[in-house]
Amino acid sequence: MTRMTVNGEAVHYKLDPETPLLWALRDASNLTGAKYGCDDGSCGACTVIADGRAVASCTVSIAVMEGANIVTIEGLSSDRSHPVQQAWAAEQVSQCGYCEPGFIMAIAALLQASPRPSPEQIDELPNICRCGAYLRIRRAIARAAEAAAGPAPLPLPATPGSGPARLSPGSSAEEQVSDANRPLSG
Ligand code: FES
Ligand code: FES
Repeated sequence: MTRMTVNGEAVHYKLDPETPLLWALRDASNLTGAKYGCDDGSCGACTVIADGRAVASCTVSIAVMEGANIVTIEGLSSDRSHPVQQAWAAEQVSQCGYCEPGFIMAIAALLQASPRPSPEQIDELPNICRCGAYLRIRRAIARAAEAAAGPAPLPLPATPGSGPARLSPGSSAEEQVSDANRPLSG
């Protein structure tokens, strides 16, 4: 039996100790917010917070998490009132929404550790958004940081150029999507 705390409740998993945390959460606890993407720690869709740190739940066994305090997207707030959730909605980040729970948990952990994260810290988030909503995600991070820690000179990307499809500076995917969706009359 593996014991941990999940969203404030004591949980005893009667599972193979090598079961990935993601599947214990999804299958045994019916907490399906954390998503299955790559299964190798490279997409961030399965991110939860364990003892205050963002963890790719597909990469860790429940044995490793013995005694840990786990927070999933379901436990971040009861009414979507967490500053990151509020900012996510305000910036209308969601497209398909698949990356959303993992991204929000990763950003929440980042802001908890660094209320005013540097652009470099934001760039280091490993999460992938396959819809390419990176510009809005950056805006959401800035908005959430401001809401949580007060106004701060967190720079926003003014003119995204070409670049990799992640949060690194100059990601162009968002710009392309925006252009594609912009009404001709607008
Ligand atoms: Fe865990 Fe991609 S599914 S990092
Ligand atoms: Fe679709 Fe990010 S909104 S993967």
